[in-house]
Amino acid sequence: MNHFDGKLDVLLVGGGMISREVILPTIFQEQRYGRIGNVSISTLTGGIIRELQQLFPKNKFKGYPDPDKYGTEEKFPDMFRDAIRDLPENGVVVVATPDHLHTPVIMAAIEAGRHVIVEKPLCLKVDEAHQIIKAAEEKGIYVLTDYHKRHDRSIRAARYKYRRGELGEMLHGHAWIEEPKYMALEVFKDWCEKSSPFEYIGVHYADAYYFVTGLKPKRLVAFGQKKFLPTKGKNAYDAVQATIEWEDGSIFFIQTSWVNNPKNSAMTNQGMQLLGTMGEYWADHKDRNTHFVTEEKGYEDYNPNFFKQYDSFDFPGEVDNVGYGYDSIVQGFNDIRRIVAATRGLSEQEALEVRKKIIKEMEETRGLPRQALIGVAINNAVRMSADAGGKFVVFDEDMNIRFE
Ligand SMILES: NC(=O)c1ccc[n+]([C@@H]2O[C@H](COP(=O)([O-])OP(=O)(O)OC[C@H]3O[C@@H](n4cnc5c(N)ncnc54)[C@H](O)[C@@H]3O)[C@@H](O)[C@H]2O)c1
Repeated sequence: MNHFDGKLDVLLVGGGMISREVILPTIFQEQRYGRIGNVSISTLTGGIIRELQQLFPKNKFKGYPDPDKYGTEEKFPDMFRDAIRDLPENGVVVVATPDHLHTPVIMAAIEAGRHVIVEKPLCLKVDEAHQIIKAAEEKGIYVLTDYHKRHDRSIRAARYKYRRGELGEMLHGHAWIEEPKYMALEVFKDWCEKSSPFEYIGVHYADAYYFVTGLKPKRLVAFGQKKFLPTKGKNAYDAVQATIEWEDGSIFFIQTSWVNNPKNSAMTNQGMQLLGTMGEYWADHKDRNTHFVTEEKGYEDYNPNFFKQYDSFDFPGEVDNVGYGYDSIVQGFNDIRRIVAATRGLSEQEALEVRKKIIKEMEETRGLPRQALIGVAINNAVRMSADAGGKFVVFDEDMNIRFE
């Protein structure tokens, strides 16, 4: 019996930077609007749960591991399984573990019949993505990858115009996305060697090109440099660049880094240029033509579109979180609420059929696994090519990859 009352219960598995800055504020805001019921958080240690309690003192959530019971130091890498098991039928799992640790959490959620929203990238390996696609399709489970750039109106505009034919056929384009040294050295110090600036952020623009054009990659070549991070004891890439050839012969170049100057005017340098036979698109996604200069922080470029706090119109004294970072996650919650509502009271077999039908309808426009596979395959190929010192890697129809 499904007791769905219009609210979803949410389990967040993660608790790091993106959880604190974007996901939890989004979840608690949705809870304030009455669209989310109970919240639970699974993370590696009780100490992280304590930090989150201090960071969100007004919000109630159940912590795994409970620091009162398990202390603050010991690591519990498998406790997310208990947290998933405790979720009721209207439960959603939001995955915000490090890039290389998405798959076990997603698979456990699918196994338990719970829908999923996962931070990009879906996972790091093509075979893992295929495994996720198969399991999700068999069980009629919704798995959305949070590619928030798909909700940036600047990128939606490129898609709209391209799809209407205003840019003609794609010729070439490039994108840049670069973050400061503290990302690799502090924020991701435990896992920067397992990922790279391309896999962590470059994939945003690989997905953006696919989202805009619908084209699939044919082959690519990538290069990486390890100059600065090794001097700090990290065998990790400072920067990675990829040139991707797509099925129509167009070329898209992406440059990425996570060793930029921390004194930059915003955390992320980013933007994209596209040239088609009938028109061009050019956008600086860092400089949105708004800046502040304050005694405290000096000059700051301000992107009002991503995820920013504004004085709430409806809750005086509180803030509203607004932007494409918010919209992207909420799309997942709204979709899942629709699926849960449509299957309420149905037999298991009927519910499965309805879930499959709704998810199929959503597949064309969403970052569901068949679309998220493109970013995964590009990531996997970039890493393979860069690790081999710049060898071409080719994609087959199913996005399996091999050296050319
Ligand atoms: N959409 C975006 O804008 C955006 C931005 C940054 C990061 N991300 C993605 O989000 C994910 C997380 O990034 P982050 O910045 O929060 O990283 P982070 O390293 O700050 O946090 C990762 C968290 O996962 C937890 N964790 C690790 N293993 C776990 C386990 N077995 N069980 C439970 N928790 C576990 C850690 O305790 C840590 O709190 C990554 O995939 C990253 O690429 C997305």
